[in-house]
Amino acid sequence: MMLTNIESKIKIGPSDRLFVLTGAGISAESGLKTFRDGGGLWAGHRVESVATPEAWKNDPELVWRFYSQRRKDAVASRPNAAHQALAELERQLGERFFLCTQNVDDLHERAGSTNMVHMHGELFKSRCEDDCGSAVQYDEGSYESLDQVPKCRCGARIRPHIVWFGEIPFGMHRIEKEIERCTMLLVVGTSGAVYPAASFVHWARRRAGSPARTFYIGPEEPLNVGAFTEVILGKAGERLPGLFEVA
Ligand code: OAD
Repeated sequence: MMLTNIESKIKIGPSDRLFVLTGAGISAESGLKTFRDGGGLWAGHRVESVATPEAWKNDPELVWRFYSQRRKDAVASRPNAAHQALAELERQLGERFFLCTQNVDDLHERAGSTNMVHMHGELFKSRCEDDCGSAVQYDEGSYESLDQVPKCRCGARIRPHIVWFGEIPFGMHRIEKEIERCTMLLVVGTSGAVYPAASFVHWARRRAGSPARTFYIGPEEPLNVGAFTEVILGKAGERLPGLFEVA
């Protein structure tokens, strides 16, 4: 692993494919809290009381209050220079760019990203708690008490379209395919504490072709720092814009 003081741009050649994984740190400069930093979301809440299927079973009102507040925070925020830099890279690389985010906010889409997966779900979507087969719905509602929460057409309650601990992340088949064929993997603003996302850098290093070059951007080293070929310390909104040059 190399701590990099990037003076020149990182070149993306005509046969390169870039896979990007983002975490809560990329939205920090937009004013959204991360999870594990001081004063982060998990400092104010026990994970087990708001982000597990058991929490939903025990206290759905508390769960809806937690995600309603996060909806309000996301509505009040704007994409920052890092979200915009990734959207610009996608415009330049087309289908050679793929974005996987652990974030449930919609800041990447609002910056213009399209070729992407929300592996931990989406804040502005809800679905039937019984998975009765009805479609996932766009939902920006804010629910303070259970009697405000709309019912599914089958009569069950709707739940946030979020992947809770113990549930299977979305889009894993596509994610595995994209990691297998990428030549460069960039990770931005994630502590490397949650799996399987924390494994992606390892998968990229041992893919069938030659190992991908792997980059991390964030103010401090992630837990899986040893797996990166280059680590760029700093805020995403300051380090990411202009870092890559598409040849
Ligand atoms: P964490 O809160 O664990 O980590 C946030 C990371 O962002 C830290 O490593 C910070 O150093 C970094 N960071 C802070 N400010 C930054 C900035 N301006 N620019 C770049 N990086 C910055 O959040 P995640 O790793 O995203 O899952 O958490 C992963 C998952 O755990 C989340 O998706 C969520 C959570 O529990 C679910 O809720 C399912």
